[in-house]
Amino acid sequence: MMASNAVKYMPIHGGTTTTTDEIKSFFSAVKHRKTSAFVYAFVITFVTFTLCVAFTPSPNSYSPWFSTSPSQNNTLQAPAPPENRTLVTNNATFESPTIVKNRTDPSQPLLTAGSSNQTRTTTDDDVPNQTAAPSVDVSVNSSSSSVKQEMEKWSETLKDCEFFDGEWIKDDDTYPLYEPGSCKLIDEQFDCVSNGRPDRDFQKLKWKPKKCSLPRLNGGIMLEMLRGRRLAFVGDSLNRNMWESLVCMLKGSVKDEGKVYEAKGRHHFRGEAEYSFVFQDYNCSVEFFVSPFLVQESEIVDKTGTKKETLRLDLIGKSSEQYKGADIIVFNTGHWWTHDKTSKGEDYYQEGSNVYHELDVLEAFRKALTTWGRWVEKNVNPEKSLVFFRGFSATHFRGGQWNSGGACDSETEPIKNETYLTPYPPKMKVLEGVLKGMTTPVTYLNITRLTDYRKDGHPSVYRKQSLSDEEKKTPLLYQDCSHWCLPGVPDSWNEILYAELLLKLNQIG
Ligand SMILES: *[C@@H]1O[C@H](CO)[C@@H](O)[C@H](O)[C@H]1NC(C)=O
Ligand SMILES: *[C@@H]1O[C@H](CO)[C@@H](O)[C@H](O)[C@H]1NC(C)=O
Ligand SMILES: *[C@@H]1O[C@H](CO)[C@@H](O)[C@H](O)[C@H]1NC(C)=O
Ligand SMILES: *[C@@H]1O[C@H](CO)[C@@H](O)[C@H](O)[C@H]1NC(C)=O
Ligand SMILES: *[C@@H]1O[C@H](CO)[C@@H](O)[C@H](O)[C@H]1NC(C)=O
Ligand SMILES: *[C@@H]1O[C@H](CO)[C@@H](O)[C@H](O)[C@H]1NC(C)=O
Ligand SMILES: *[C@@H]1O[C@H](CO)[C@@H](O)[C@H](O)[C@H]1NC(C)=O
Ligand SMILES: *[C@@H]1O[C@H](CO)[C@@H](O)[C@H](O)[C@H]1NC(C)=O
Ligand SMILES: *[C@@H]1O[C@H](CO)[C@@H](O)[C@H](O)[C@H]1NC(C)=O
Ligand SMILES: *[C@@H]1O[C@H](CO)[C@@H](O)[C@H](O)[C@H]1NC(C)=O
Repeated sequence: MMASNAVKYMPIHGGTTTTTDEIKSFFSAVKHRKTSAFVYAFVITFVTFTLCVAFTPSPNSYSPWFSTSPSQNNTLQAPAPPENRTLVTNNATFESPTIVKNRTDPSQPLLTAGSSNQTRTTTDDDVPNQTAAPSVDVSVNSSSSSVKQEMEKWSETLKDCEFFDGEWIKDDDTYPLYEPGSCKLIDEQFDCVSNGRPDRDFQKLKWKPKKCSLPRLNGGIMLEMLRGRRLAFVGDSLNRNMWESLVCMLKGSVKDEGKVYEAKGRHHFRGEAEYSFVFQDYNCSVEFFVSPFLVQESEIVDKTGTKKETLRLDLIGKSSEQYKGADIIVFNTGHWWTHDKTSKGEDYYQEGSNVYHELDVLEAFRKALTTWGRWVEKNVNPEKSLVFFRGFSATHFRGGQWNSGGACDSETEPIKNETYLTPYPPKMKVLEGVLKGMTTPVTYLNITRLTDYRKDGHPSVYRKQSLSDEEKKTPLLYQDCSHWCLPGVPDSWNEILYAELLLKLNQIG
């Protein structure tokens, strides 16, 4: 299958990693970083409008080693609006017919042509003659057997399915997977409906691969699969988006929500280096580690005694010591490599004591991912852990960039005409190259195209409850067209993750 087989055969020759230094100062180093200009690349012009793709990293995105103000507390701050915006007219929108497909029953696997006979319907007492499945709880338990059933039921259908080749279809009955506003832990930034977003259709779309239907994410079964395990998301704020989505779905399926809590009792999830939700009844945790570059942010002191920020392309991020032991790890990186500083690459990228005077961003990205790949090879035991890499999530800034009035408000439908999709990002081609050179299996969640359709899925202006006086004057100027509303698009990433786990979890002990 195209998606899952990013497992390739040539080893990267054994690199060394330095991960142990300065762990002690990790948490004390947690600080904020204010917005700085991030500008992204593509501009595609059509007859009636310009679609600009850009990224706005969360202004509160954690980035400990960039801070210049050590006295700053880890409190939530209002995003500093980027200066210098120009007004755009949000004129042309993609108009396209609504897809109204007859819903397929999500509980019924849709058999792929040529994939045979698995028409067995499973019921709770229909436990076929099994010897203990290798992965799941060995205890004879109705819940663990339901995991086995779910695995059996879907394995045939999903086995040859290309998860990332498909379309969005309307599914009124089962979507959204949780009620908007029902999940209190969603950051304000993603809580679009609570922030006043009026339309709802964007929450009713299900990703439908051409060759199969994805199983509906069953939180109870997923928790059974995670029993006794740690699942860690590692990356930038888009991975926080995905993490919050999953925690909501899982939390909504437990009997006693009181037994689900953030390990340190936190209720906001922007601004610190790591978070962990504990599901006590399942003895498992679903964690998030902020590591926007995956490699280590650092600094050097130049001859004049001035400190300068650098990015250590040769060292994995410091939190690796903490996520190292996780049973399932979902990585991402990408958007931060469009940062002015990273993309210009002047006196910024460092390897050993060498700071490159100039280095192309793609080359730096390749070096960083290679460092990451070596770390995985060295530190992940493929017999015990599963590794995923979630690809680049598309952005939709119309008529400008994130810091120049780019907009995605009033978009209520996905793109239907593929002509308007953007080319596959070169960074992801670099990633694919790195994955090919690895021996440890890494499953690539190739979500770029799937997200590219969803110009309707972003918070746009519904990114906070109340606007500042400044923002009220021109509310349309401040839009988030990079992250996703929840419930929304990242729920589908998690459904794909769920499907992957049904297929793969029995590979690890
Ligand atoms: C930082 O937090 C401490 C206690 O948590 C508080 O006493 C102090 O005033 C805060 N400083 C700022 C700048 O908010
Ligand atoms: C606004 O941006 C333009 C181009 O990016 C730049 O030339 C100009 O100096 C900026 N203005 C302010 C006030 O930052
Ligand atoms: C739409 O855009 C065109 C050209 O960009 C402009 O001439 C026209 O006035 C705009 N219409 C609206 C309603 O903004
Ligand atoms: C959808 O289903 C309804 C009844 O369930 C049926 O009348 C209609 O023809 C179907 N439409 C399509 C496109 O299959
Ligand atoms: C599927 O069923 C057909 C007929 O029912 C049978 O001939 C075929 O061998 C089956 N295939 C598999 C893989 O069981
Ligand atoms: C149960 O499994 C055993 C060994 O795998 C097999 O011989 C037997 O036929 C199976 N029984 C049923 C009812 O499937
Ligand atoms: C079965 O699972 C429940 C919770 O899902 C657990 O409390 C119980 O101990 C399990 N039974 C066995 C025999 O492990
Ligand atoms: C909980 O899971 C950990 C592994 O994550 C395991 O070491 C421990 O024994 C489990 N505890 C219980 C009570 O099952
Ligand atoms: C897609 O858009 C292009 C360019 O506007 C147009 O030529 C083409 O006919 C459209 N395709 C469909 C299927 O609407
Ligand atoms: C990922 O999806 C893109 C389409 O967006 C495709 O061009 C690329 O080949 C896919 N990569 C893999 C490894 O399947």
